[in-house]
Amino acid sequence: EVPAMDERFEESFSIGAAIEPFQLDGESGQILDYHYNSVVAENAMKPESLQPSEGQFDWEGADRIADYARENDIELRFHTLVWHNQVPGWFFLDEDGNSMVEEEDNAKREENKQLLLERLEMHIQEVVERYGDVVTSWDVVNEVIDDDQPNEQGLRESPWYQIAGDDYIRTAFEATRRFAGEDAMLYINDYNTEVEPKRTNLYNLVVDLIEEGVPIDGVGHQSHIQLGWPSIDDMRETYEMFAELGLDQQITELDVSIYGWPPSGEFKSEEEIPDSILEEQAERYEAIFSLYEEFRDEISNVTFWGIGDNHTWLDDRAQEHSDDGAGKDAPFVFDTEYNVKPAYYAIMGFE
Ligand code: XIL
Repeated sequence: EVPAMDERFEESFSIGAAIEPFQLDGESGQILDYHYNSVVAENAMKPESLQPSEGQFDWEGADRIADYARENDIELRFHTLVWHNQVPGWFFLDEDGNSMVEEEDNAKREENKQLLLERLEMHIQEVVERYGDVVTSWDVVNEVIDDDQPNEQGLRESPWYQIAGDDYIRTAFEATRRFAGEDAMLYINDYNTEVEPKRTNLYNLVVDLIEEGVPIDGVGHQSHIQLGWPSIDDMRETYEMFAELGLDQQITELDVSIYGWPPSGEFKSEEEIPDSILEEQAERYEAIFSLYEEFRDEISNVTFWGIGDNHTWLDDRAQEHSDDGAGKDAPFVFDTEYNVKPAYYAIMGFE
């Protein structure tokens, strides 16, 4: 029996995993019980899972995960109230079934905006009433910053933005605060927060929100990273920038791909991945966890976007981009059979 990860980092931050409800059972469930003290739903709490059609909620999978957190008295990160992906299309249709994004009439545009913001508040209210007792941190908005600079603020021109401008961000935070209360921890979450111009655009948005009195408590760094990217210096600079604002920070979707971008998918199975790459990954994990520990007062939670290498969204990415439609990634500290990898020993401080 190896030492538990959550105990190892007890003094620094909680350790989480993203899961599908079925992973609560069997061997993945045992690993989860033993090594982690925080969970997040990989998909089960996204808008398309919870409210596939207007007013029709499907709580089944989400309830299983929430109950697990309650029963085990561990943290639950809620992911996510607002996103441009995995959101059902009805949010963006007017009462006649027309796309609100395409509306050109100004009076109608204003009406549409109000309708969208009401739907958003309604969604947030229902979700908070059901899970507010157990959720310890809320991803209020996810990926609102664009990778490039499509407009002055660098905001993603999603349907949310096209219909409601940046007001949907304010409404989302204010509604979550109103329903979840003063103690709820509210996050803005994004990927590539170590990269310009995204980092500065995110920073400027957060500063504006704080100055306007919008209730925001923290920044979530997804951290879908690679062996050689981003650099530790860039990561450190990001954490320093947001630390100066006095915000909490969380590492919300950590995985360390064995490929660059785009992934070549050159390894077709776990067996084909050379030991040298797993060693390199271990060094990488060691470096990033030392960095997280440097920021232990600022970073309250580190969540892996999965448990073992048998279940990772990165496999889909590796397959998509490979020549032959096959490809295996191996981003975690547990292998496909939940054996510990060199990366596990590295973060746990074994020589
Ligand atoms: C991914 C899930 O892992 C996949 O199962 C699903 O098909 C697509 O979404 N950024 C996020 C997560 O915020 O919600 C995404 O999760 C990964 C990227």
